[in-house]
Amino acid sequence: MGMKIPTYHGHENGTTGLRRTAAIRYAKFYNISLDWLLMGVGDGRQKLRAATVDSAETEAMLGAADTPETHPAETATDPAFNRLAAYRPYPKQKLFHEGGAIHNERLFMAANQVGKTLAGASEWAMHLTGHYPDWWLGRRFAGPVRMWAAGVTAQSTRDNPQRVLVGPPQQKELWGTGTIPKACLKEWTSARGVADGLDSVVVRWSGGGDTGAQYSVLSFKSYEQGREKWQGETLHGVWFDEEPPLDIYSEGKTRTNALNGIVIVTFTPLLGMSDVVKLFLTEADVANMRRLAKGEPLNPHVP
Ligand SMILES: Nc1ncnc2c1ncn2[C@@H]1O[C@H](COP(=O)(O)OP(=O)(O)OP(=O)(O)O)[C@@H](O)[C@H]1O
Ligand SMILES: [Mg+2]
Repeated sequence: MGMKIPTYHGHENGTTGLRRTAAIRYAKFYNISLDWLLMGVGDGRQKLRAATVDSAETEAMLGAADTPETHPAETATDPAFNRLAAYRPYPKQKLFHEGGAIHNERLFMAANQVGKTLAGASEWAMHLTGHYPDWWLGRRFAGPVRMWAAGVTAQSTRDNPQRVLVGPPQQKELWGTGTIPKACLKEWTSARGVADGLDSVVVRWSGGGDTGAQYSVLSFKSYEQGREKWQGETLHGVWFDEEPPLDIYSEGKTRTNALNGIVIVTFTPLLGMSDVVKLFLTEADVANMRRLAKGEPLNPHVP
């Protein structure tokens, strides 16, 4: 596991505190969730969803957010054109990212305007560019990636993931002010049928030192295209920025299987307890969400 034997004994006996990095290492090694490891809640399944299952205690135990440091490759440019360097995740966003170290499927389900899209777009920019900040404890890909970002319609995909990843769709001079730094935006292809919509973006990847020019590719998709348009490609990651229908979710997940890729879902629940939401929740979660919806207090005895 890459730790000294006395450290391991200290953790086992409870004489040594557990650092964030060590907790993640254990969870990864034993294939268990952080909540189960630290708080004994849940059934330890891998499919932890950071924004819903995490308890305040788990977060407190893991400690305050580590001090972020800027990636050396990100300091040179105008800050407006390098928003990735300035990204400092809120605690929920951080937990969502860290879940990626051990989970291939993550759901960030939360209220409006808490930063779901920015979290998704910042993480996607890291994978696409290979610029992981020093504080990063989430998933890392060792080379250039092929990723998708998707919403319900071509318009909503343009106005949400595309806007936050690239910049304001209607102002080309501001492309590069999204989470993908301008210096890394090599070229783009326009989508047909939607004004200012992009079909794909080629992103300079420079995570591996001086290895010459390497490129990642980000494509934009929408659920309204239907399952057929979701077939074929092999991907490192698929981001659903609104709740997808189950068939689209399954197709997107399938695209990532061969590369052991990741799927992230970021949305505010509008469809109630949909099939995709249920994939991520236990019976106890569902029962508690029903109580919340009815304005009843949570049942503290439900594990
Ligand atoms: N870590 C952060 N640091 C600074 N600002 C942030 C952070 N996270 C989110 N924000 C800001 O909060 C606002 C809402 O963020 P975002 O659009 O990502 O939220 P959302 O949860 O996707 O909202 P919606 O429910 O409308 O889709 C944006 O202006 C975003 O830039
Ligand atoms: Mg959003």
